[in-house]
Amino acid sequence: MPFAGVGVGLRSPHLDPVAALDAAPVPFWEIAPENVVGLGGARQRKTLAILERDDVLTHGLSMSMGGFEAWAPEVLDRLVAFLKTTGTPWHSEHLCWSSHGGTHSHELLPLPFTREAVKHTVARVKGLQARLPVPFLLENISYYAELGASEMSERDFLLEVLEGADCGWLLDVNNVYVNSVNHGFDPRAWLTGMPLHRVAQIHIACHTWLPEEGVLLDTHGAPVADPVRDLLAWLLPRLGRPVPVLLERDHAIPDLEELLAERASLQSLYDRVLAGAAHA
Ligand SMILES: [Fe+2]
Repeated sequence: MPFAGVGVGLRSPHLDPVAALDAAPVPFWEIAPENVVGLGGARQRKTLAILERDDVLTHGLSMSMGGFEAWAPEVLDRLVAFLKTTGTPWHSEHLCWSSHGGTHSHELLPLPFTREAVKHTVARVKGLQARLPVPFLLENISYYAELGASEMSERDFLLEVLEGADCGWLLDVNNVYVNSVNHGFDPRAWLTGMPLHRVAQIHIACHTWLPEEGVLLDTHGAPVADPVRDLLAWLLPRLGRPVPVLLERDHAIPDLEELLAERASLQSLYDRVLAGAAHA
């Protein structure tokens, strides 16, 4: 694995303090091309300077992998050119749809869990993979309702798309946990038997309990909760290799020092668990 340890999603409030450092304070960052490409201005300049110095993984937000809208050739060209400049070993997107009829949603919407949707999404993933200069990963999302009549479980849907597209898996541990609470399953049983050999990267984040709705919401707005840390600790030794973990934080973003302290705590967990697995 070219990357290992615990990295952090690079967010705009941290660009100035990170750029002012002499060296990277993390093993790697994750960045969204949408937040850099074609943006211009000081934000783009600062991000590119950090990318020049530090290791990065790229994670796309807007390709609507299960959607129906064709990607504009110039959008693909810009993405490909950008990925080549970053040195990222792979590029990822979500297993979702997020745009239709020219309208973009900021939500990652679930696809119908049907054979037709598997076939359609597999073709889209293969089409994108053929254009990219690096391997492609799909990320499992959190979802709160099923879209139409399902022909299979969300787990089997993900499994069939990963196998059909023969792509990598960005395993979001928090999304598995959130879904397990909202849809009533055991996350460890859910993960057992899944193609863990496809996992090239892990996401970890936090959630919020909404008592009135009785829903666990994937919010990325607080430190990672203990059950998600426990699930990560359970998962890591089962991967058989040190897969990079990325801490996501998108709301109530703390200052850099606080976020780096949480990263260090997760790194300790990562090191402890993998050292234990090596001696087992
Ligand atoms: Fe994620």
